[in-house]
Amino acid sequence: DTSRSFVSTGALPSRDEIRALVETAYARFRSERAGAVADYIPALAEADPDAFGICLANTRGDTFALGDAEQAFSIQSVSKPFAFALVCDALGAEEAALRLGVDATGLAFNSIMAVELRADRTTNPMVNSGAIATTSLVPGANAEERWQNVQQGLSRFAGRPLAFDERVYRSEAATNQRNAGVAHLLRGYQRLYCDPDEATDVYTRQCSLLVTARDLAVMGATLASGGVNPVTSEQVVAADTCRRVLAVMATAGLYERSGLWLYDVGLPGKSGVSGGIVTVSPGKGAVATYSPPLDAAGNSVRGQLVTRFLSERLGLNLF
Ligand code: DON
Repeated sequence: DTSRSFVSTGALPSRDEIRALVETAYARFRSERAGAVADYIPALAEADPDAFGICLANTRGDTFALGDAEQAFSIQSVSKPFAFALVCDALGAEEAALRLGVDATGLAFNSIMAVELRADRTTNPMVNSGAIATTSLVPGANAEERWQNVQQGLSRFAGRPLAFDERVYRSEAATNQRNAGVAHLLRGYQRLYCDPDEATDVYTRQCSLLVTARDLAVMGATLASGGVNPVTSEQVVAADTCRRVLAVMATAGLYERSGLWLYDVGLPGKSGVSGGIVTVSPGKGAVATYSPPLDAAGNSVRGQLVTRFLSERLGLNLF
């Protein structure tokens, strides 16, 4: 078992060793059946619970993909760190923290109470309230320009133009009264920075962008390499922005299970209700998984198991 030596000696695994570990992880968790596919957005309920993809990308631009790593799915909350990166880069880290907040809520991703409990009415960009506020700060003179900037910005992280799933968008837009409510509440507290219905709409579009596990791995590896996309070599955001984004992911990337995640895995991660998780190893790369069945907090069950396994075997835990 060569993997143990990566942990004890800090030696870097070879390409073959990484590939073998991804294959081991895939085989080990392939038959895992726990969790339930999200159904509060009607279009998401149609996802195949057996779909299962893994992709690891390093900061040299190598990718190691297995299973359904090329299957497209709507990005949902995994868009949040990348949208925040664009805003943090545009506004500066201090201003972004002041306007959006960067503390954990300890509450569900769509919590309204989380807004009410804080004296300054901020949450953080990884939960819906802070994410809708983040989208309201994306540069642009109007909703259309903000949406263009979100789509183009996230595409630069992925290194290819990301398409948009009209069906998922329409399905969520017809059922997202709660998010619209959150946006109006924030506007009432002057913690939303454009028209609330426009912010909700751009946020809903953002969540409907289509990605694959491979895209998420490259996007994560861009955060791991100081904002330089390792495949295209484009500097997407500044290195300091990446540090801030990774800090907020570590704090709140897996919602109310973020503490347990950091305790177990020791890396910043971000999950989404469609079943994606991206986990970043600063300086080294990223692990992305796709498996739709979720736990009660909204995190992919199989994705968490695979990531914990790979992080342990590759010796990626930061602590
Ligand atoms: O706003 C929502 O509810 C969805 N568009 C995204 C939520 C999400 O992915 C949270 N994930 N765990």
